[in-house]
Amino acid sequence: MRMSSMENIYDIEDNLLLKTYVKRRIAIVSGNGSEVYDEKGRRFIDLTSAYGVALLGHSNPVIVEAIVNQLKKISSCHGSFYNDARADFLREISYFTSRFFSRILLVNSGAESVDLALKTAFKKTGRSKIVAANRSFHGKTLASLSVTWNPDYKKGLEHVLNNRVVFSEYGNEEDLKNKVDKDTAAIILEPVQGEGGVRIPPEGYLKAAREIASDKGVLLIIDEIQSGMRRTGPFFAFEREGIVPDVAMLAKGVAGGIPIGITLFTEEVSTVGETGFHTSTYGGNPLACAAGAATIRLLREAVTEKDVEERSRKFSNRLEELKGLRIVREVRIRGLMIGVELRIRAKPVVDMLADRGVLALTAGPTVVRFLPALNIPLSLIDEACNVIIETMREYESKLGSSTATG
Ligand SMILES: Cc1ncc(COP(=O)(O)O)c(C=O)c1O
Repeated sequence: MRMSSMENIYDIEDNLLLKTYVKRRIAIVSGNGSEVYDEKGRRFIDLTSAYGVALLGHSNPVIVEAIVNQLKKISSCHGSFYNDARADFLREISYFTSRFFSRILLVNSGAESVDLALKTAFKKTGRSKIVAANRSFHGKTLASLSVTWNPDYKKGLEHVLNNRVVFSEYGNEEDLKNKVDKDTAAIILEPVQGEGGVRIPPEGYLKAAREIASDKGVLLIIDEIQSGMRRTGPFFAFEREGIVPDVAMLAKGVAGGIPIGITLFTEEVSTVGETGFHTSTYGGNPLACAAGAATIRLLREAVTEKDVEERSRKFSNRLEELKGLRIVREVRIRGLMIGVELRIRAKPVVDMLADRGVLALTAGPTVVRFLPALNIPLSLIDEACNVIIETMREYESKLGSSTATG
């Protein structure tokens, strides 16, 4: 490899990493709250929070202090030994989880926590069929990919993925009921679909899913990896419908930026948890646990459901202005999961926003998605919304009258 091609961040990543990501040509080298900076010191307002991971802002000082203190003490401790940071984290998170779940398994990523939920369903029921939803996203390991909807992600792997997964129309109770049969081990659903386009199901859908699962003796698995941790207001998004799933998963923002995944079990399904059922070298490591305990304490004491609602309302009020635009089909907001569905492709708009200093995500081909930190300052919401509104207006007028396509 030529040395000249290894001189900057972009060349090094482009030359050495397997090309599995759709790359955006921005190198993020530091962050502070809801602002991030590139290698030249250029500032961006971050409405992505790194796909929901920097839940309470980048380099949150309370979380950083907890991580640094833990690093100085001990950073690794296998799950076969006991550890004080792990116990502290479990005690903290059970403040939110113990109303619903009695057992917890600590792993390293969202996808791993999904694999574990599926293992639980297969083992508990002795069946192998899973009902997932159209446009679902549950991860990309072999098991989690099998319940992820997008066929593009599965190309060349169809022969090794679980071919007993069927997809039901998201939000459609009747269809869900029809897809579940005597071979079904579990229904797996996101309470609000994230990557699928920030889709909010009709009121009562999760309740119906709970009833269908209970009637037919199958497990209800609720994937809270993106929607959990107060992202939509309550700690779990499923709380809105007053249901309790058999298994739920959390990841992303749990440890404020340090990799972690969590699977939660009700008393009844926790009987699958025999020795050796699932272990993982890094699972429950003290570093992630110390970061997680600090994050949860902040959610208990400093960043409440009311704070999320206030920010959600602010976005909602400001983005109201988008509704008059012809390129905008719909604005969907649940807490701080925000999607602007366009009548055109979202990617050029997201790129234009980045050029103007606002980082956003796509969610499918036509949805611009915002997943800001839960404590984003109100002034930054205003600043970002000014840019979003201006950019979409300009984009619309650039496209001229030919944009009203449907
Ligand atoms: C709802 C949902 N489930 C699962 C995953 C997979 O998590 P990870 O990327 O940590 O494997 C994601 C990631 O975006 C997600 O949004």
